[in-house]
Amino acid sequence: EPVVALVVAAGSGVRLGGEVPKALREIAGRPLVLRSVEQLAGGGCTHAVVVVAAGTEDAFAAALASAPVPVRLVRGGAERQDSVRLGLDAVAADPSLAGCRVVLVHDAARALVPAAVVARVIAAVQGGAPAVIPVTTVIDSVRQVLPGGSSVVDRATLRAVQTPQGFDLATLRAAHELIARDGVAVTDDAAACEHAGHSVVLVEGAREAMKITEPLDLVLAEAIARADV
Ligand code: C5P
Repeated sequence: EPVVALVVAAGSGVRLGGEVPKALREIAGRPLVLRSVEQLAGGGCTHAVVVVAAGTEDAFAAALASAPVPVRLVRGGAERQDSVRLGLDAVAADPSLAGCRVVLVHDAARALVPAAVVARVIAAVQGGAPAVIPVTTVIDSVRQVLPGGSSVVDRATLRAVQTPQGFDLATLRAAHELIARDGVAVTDDAAACEHAGHSVVLVEGAREAMKITEPLDLVLAEAIARADV
């Protein structure tokens, strides 16, 4: 049965600068989006649906020509959650993906996610969890800034949330319909499921799955990719 990777890559990537969409930027000669699809396939995804901005389809098709699994391109929306919803609609409507129960939603910018993390997420969904997220502990001390000053937050209780996040496909589609109906804004898909009343299962993420966001991240990613960590 298909395990679908839904890769969102329709953002502008303004924080990274440059002319091309962020997901087409290269680390050590390979585009972020291709690396993401390779890692997802390495962890067990059998198909990829990549959500891209209008007008960038040809460039993404070229970047993904050597992808190890079949890739379908879908046009994205105004916000990340719109792009995910459009991608999920495409998954549900695609006859070649009939019978798909497990979908992983992944930020293209997390291009170096280890295959082992992907495999952990898939295993947890196949084990019956409706929503699964990879998380890491927080290294820095953390403060909450309030109008009257700031106060320390116990970092031991905090986790940073990564992707790929794994879901039962029907659960995630219903959750996205609900947040669209309720006008709720979310920054990730687990939050959409939580709004719909589902509990979220945490599995161990990895520092390598960092979201490549700022120029410094590209430098780090180059080094990681060349070292083949
Ligand atoms: O902006 P942010 O860093 O949260 O974006 C996370 C991911 O969502 C990126 O991979 C980006 O390409 C994607 N995205 C999208 N459609 C949008 C906005 C963001 O696919 N409208």
